Amino acid sequence: MSDNQKKLQELLQQLALGQGPIKPREIPEEPKKEMKDYKFWNTQPVPALDTEISEEGPIDSKKTPDDIPDEPLPMLGDFEWCEIDIQKENELEDLFVLLNENYVEDKDSSFRFNYTKEFFNWALKSPGWRKDWHVGVRVKKTNKLIAFISAIPVNLRVRSNEFKSVEINFLCIHKQLRAKRLTPVLIKEITRRVNKCNIWQALYTSGTILPSPVSTPRYAHRPINWSKLYDVGFTGCPIDKTKADMLAYYAVPSVTKTAGLRAMELRDVDATLVLFNKYQSRFDMVQNFTKEEFQHWFLGNDEIHKVVFSYVVENEEGEITDFFSFYSLPFTILENAIHKDLGIGYLFYYASNADFEYTDRFDKEGTTALRKRLDSLMSDAVVLARSHKMDVFNALTSQENSLFLEDLKFGPGDGFLNFYLFNYKTMPITDGLTEDKRFDTEKRSNVGVVML
Ligand SMILES: CC(C)(COP(=O)(O)OP(=O)(O)OC[C@H]1O[C@@H](n2cnc3c(N)ncnc32)[C@H](O)[C@@H]1OP(=O)(O)O)[C@@H](O)C(=O)NCCC(=O)NCCS
Repeated sequence: MSDNQKKLQELLQQLALGQGPIKPREIPEEPKKEMKDYKFWNTQPVPALDTEISEEGPIDSKKTPDDIPDEPLPMLGDFEWCEIDIQKENELEDLFVLLNENYVEDKDSSFRFNYTKEFFNWALKSPGWRKDWHVGVRVKKTNKLIAFISAIPVNLRVRSNEFKSVEINFLCIHKQLRAKRLTPVLIKEITRRVNKCNIWQALYTSGTILPSPVSTPRYAHRPINWSKLYDVGFTGCPIDKTKADMLAYYAVPSVTKTAGLRAMELRDVDATLVLFNKYQSRFDMVQNFTKEEFQHWFLGNDEIHKVVFSYVVENEEGEITDFFSFYSLPFTILENAIHKDLGIGYLFYYASNADFEYTDRFDKEGTTALRKRLDSLMSDAVVLARSHKMDVFNALTSQENSLFLEDLKFGPGDGFLNFYLFNYKTMPITDGLTEDKRFDTEKRSNVGVVML
């Protein structure tokens, strides 16, 4: 394997895509930090690790926006706060450079996330977005952007409680400024800005363990273009198999098979949202979308192309019976003679009425009907992902995904994603995994929210 291949493989592993091909691997346990060692997090309104929660709800609910300082937190000497105006080409460029060069640990930047303007217009400019929630830190003298954190507003439901919240994402600190306790400053500052708007809860995810995960689904990936993944070192060939065997095993049909499947259009929004809300009601943690948000996240707009792909199934009576979506976040490969990029698709939200006639989500017949339908829809999603030049398709074990992952040749990845709620305690939410971290087709997951 060449150095480049090794690097890409490391990078993909860090991105939690795993390297398959199919058998679950031993997961090294992260050394466990004790609560007293979380010098920052043990000052924050989050449940301590391993505490049993008996009552759900906000941890600190006494403050009002008037109790929150008007001024930003003091910033260390050589640095200053800034807002990133992603409408401005040069500021967007600063954000690309920071994230592309520092979001993952590839020392020579030989492989990069191919973040695009469209991607940020989609991810950071959802309805209700605020420029002052796109927070950066610059070096005073040079104006270089060295850190970023963002929030977008969302409405969350956790079991039967609905509340306003934000989603925190794209936290990044320049590699040379790591381990200097800048993260707590960024988190406190975004919290201050959000609290000023009378929002007191946040949803965020991380590969690392912090106090305290609400749920920890596992990544799974489905090779689409196996030979390319092999060429760039993403996947190996098992000793007892030939390349031809692997190509045959991962072959993707050339056409979709679900009757009535077509791209989602503006005219579908109302009906699809009704179907979606009904479907989502089965989960314990979901984002409730307004119509405007639904349209943004699934159809995009003139500034958002080739980022999110949404499809519906319309039956002969003209009803929307199913819906699915996925998004694209490719890599650029800088130093490979053959391949310049790697297309990566991520399963986003979906819904189906296949089990609506059963009131119990775990009814055996209902589950069989849903599994059959999801197998068909998701295998079409893979076909469509390939048509959009995606080389691998990723999903978590959240939602009802565990029902179809194995059927559709998704392999368990090396990565797990911890979901956290800030200033909200809740009992654990199922993650779609059995005790030995395999796909759990029985209990499935109660996480119904997808974070980018
Ligand atoms: C994640 C990142 C910002 C952490 O920076 P760092 O320089 O290692 O950490 P700092 O010295 O600034 O701060 C350390 C504190 O931040 C916490 N922390 C680290 N990563 C965190 C995360 N992803 N979310 C929340 N808190 C985090 C640590 O637990 C520690 O607090 P503690 O004493 O209570 O344990 C940095 O490693 C980075 O930019 N990584 C690449 C991008 C990335 O992975 N972003 C996170 C996506 S979830």
